[in-house]
Amino acid sequence: MDIFKTNTSVTKHLEPLLNKGKTIGFVPTMGALHKGHLSLIKKAIAQNNVVIVSVFVNPTQFNNTKDLEKYPRTLQKDVALIQTLSDKIIVFAPNTNEIYGNTIQSKKYSFDGLEFQMEGKFRDGHFDGVGTILDYFFSTLKPTNAYFGEKDFQQLQIVKKLVSKYNLDVNIIGCEIFREASGLAMSSRNTRLTDTGKTEASFIYKTLLQAKKKFGTKSASKVEEWVTKQFAKNKHFKLEYVTIAEVTTLKTVKRKSKKQKYRIFIAAFIDNVRLIDNIALN
Ligand code: PAJ
Repeated sequence: MDIFKTNTSVTKHLEPLLNKGKTIGFVPTMGALHKGHLSLIKKAIAQNNVVIVSVFVNPTQFNNTKDLEKYPRTLQKDVALIQTLSDKIIVFAPNTNEIYGNTIQSKKYSFDGLEFQMEGKFRDGHFDGVGTILDYFFSTLKPTNAYFGEKDFQQLQIVKKLVSKYNLDVNIIGCEIFREASGLAMSSRNTRLTDTGKTEASFIYKTLLQAKKKFGTKSASKVEEWVTKQFAKNKHFKLEYVTIAEVTTLKTVKRKSKKQKYRIFIAAFIDNVRLIDNIALN
């Protein structure tokens, strides 16, 4: 399997493939890979001639240095996992210096307000960091298709906005959330949960499903109130937010309309680990 660490070496490898008209599927990740990531890579394999996976813990999207330090770094294990799918996949695993040089800084973007909703209220500068690294990857690797999980639904919508607003030449493809049997959404952060934490964490998905049922007959704000109460009763969790939002603007729903699509979003702490999840409501 080809593993590249530098921009020059990876572009030198990709250029002849692009010139031959091969389609390139790109799956950006921060490593600590799990079955959720693998589901994206499988989709990329099915839809492209060449697949490239980046493994890079992007410092500019972390607003909390402790979170950045604690982020699991398991490149060898990641490469072994990718290899279980195919040994033709290209891995791009640069170091921070290769990407940012001496100035570890984000560029500034406007995502037409998407960046101020939900995660944007709690993770200052996060989406500028995400925009900066993806802008870099898209222009360096020139992928045909790039794959993103609905697990980070706000990120998916922001990447679509980045591409349309800044005229980037790549198709963005959303992929369903991959879950544990318990319903817990797979996440690299789950490895930091205690055993009890991991069992308790399925509460998030169970509550989302119940909220979906209630949304059939109740207003968005009533459902949000109900979810807030369930979390207040659960001693393992601290809820950061619950929001029912329209899927394109990500604005909180004031009044339901049959013509619009909604999702419910949750961010909550358990064992000091911040988890997020969401599901479609209609
Ligand atoms: P990371 O958290 O490693 O996730 C990489 C991709 O995997 C994202 O598109 C994410 O939504 C998707 N993913 C994670 N868990 C998933 C699950 N359970 N089911 C389906 N997809 C899942 O997101 C990032 O990295 C970074 O922000 C990145 C885009 C790489 C930019 O640095």
